[in-house]
Amino acid sequence: MEKKLWGTTRENEEVYTYEIAGAGGIRATFMNYGANLLSLTVPDRDGNEKDIVLGYEKLESYFDNDLYFGCCVAPNGNRIGDARFTLNGKTYELDKNDGENNLHSGSDPLCMRIWDVADVKDNAITFTYDKKDMDMGFPGNMKITVTFTLTPDNELRIDYSGLSDQDTIFNPTNHSYFNLAGHDSGSVLDQLVWINASRFTETDAGSVPTGNLIDVKGTPLDFTKEKPMAPEVDDTYEQLALAKGYDHNFALDITEGELSLAASLYDPKSGRKMEVYTDLPGMQLYCGNYIHPNVVGKGGFLYQPRYGVCFETQYYPNAINIPSFSQPVAKAGVEKKTTTVYRFFTA
Ligand code: BGC
Repeated sequence: MEKKLWGTTRENEEVYTYEIAGAGGIRATFMNYGANLLSLTVPDRDGNEKDIVLGYEKLESYFDNDLYFGCCVAPNGNRIGDARFTLNGKTYELDKNDGENNLHSGSDPLCMRIWDVADVKDNAITFTYDKKDMDMGFPGNMKITVTFTLTPDNELRIDYSGLSDQDTIFNPTNHSYFNLAGHDSGSVLDQLVWINASRFTETDAGSVPTGNLIDVKGTPLDFTKEKPMAPEVDDTYEQLALAKGYDHNFALDITEGELSLAASLYDPKSGRKMEVYTDLPGMQLYCGNYIHPNVVGKGGFLYQPRYGVCFETQYYPNAINIPSFSQPVAKAGVEKKTTTVYRFFTA
């Protein structure tokens, strides 16, 4: 484990980076600002290592990280329609930071604040955040814990836990952008995606699920057989055009509560392959349509739209407003846990 001072926030808090390593050969760097994943170094089939997640060159860029590079998004990932929800008969108003909707918990999210480092080992790090009642508009004093572990099997395992003193929303996700050819290799669209989902959630023009599920069959969102994103990403299919490319929640064909294979990404050139496992019912495939042109990335490399792809495990977006969807609710006094695993190997 290697800890380094990177700089200070605008409020003069110290920001440290922590590098950990797994016995299988992968390495990762995190920082206490946002419990953010800054780098993830993975070998290719010849043993050549590359950092395969997008990130900024400068610490200051993370203070206005509207792309959510490397973010640990909590308490709620993705959108809540009209930035409003009702729980136990009470209506809560959230920030409208995405048109009329709430995105990734609002304009002052936990991924842009300092977390406590509760524990750090050679291959694992645990961050905690004590969220106060009504912070960001969400009820409950909640202790949020996230542990990142690099296992001997070259997995990045993320264990989340939320314990609140009131019923509240708990739907954390990781917003890392992956590019298995390397963060500085260009478009990710030729890499092959497979998703264990025969349906996705229909969205309105604001990318908020309507409550309907659509069969992927015959649509560009059919990833039940591995395929590259490039050929259909700009297809005129309405659901795709509305989102300006892949930016959809897939209704996974898995059993909620059981850690199961949800998706994979494969780069035939380097041989790097990533599998995604979750115990949640949904996953957002987001291919970076909104990456701003010429974002200054690590090493000064300039990122463009679609240079990385996110696999955000989650409850279906806006589920709190759609009773037929599984509810992203943590009950008062009951610790709610969820796990995501990104597993790396070569093929
Ligand atoms: C959303 C995108 C949004 C992005 C922000 C994704 O989770 O689905 O619509 O633009 O986060 O970087």
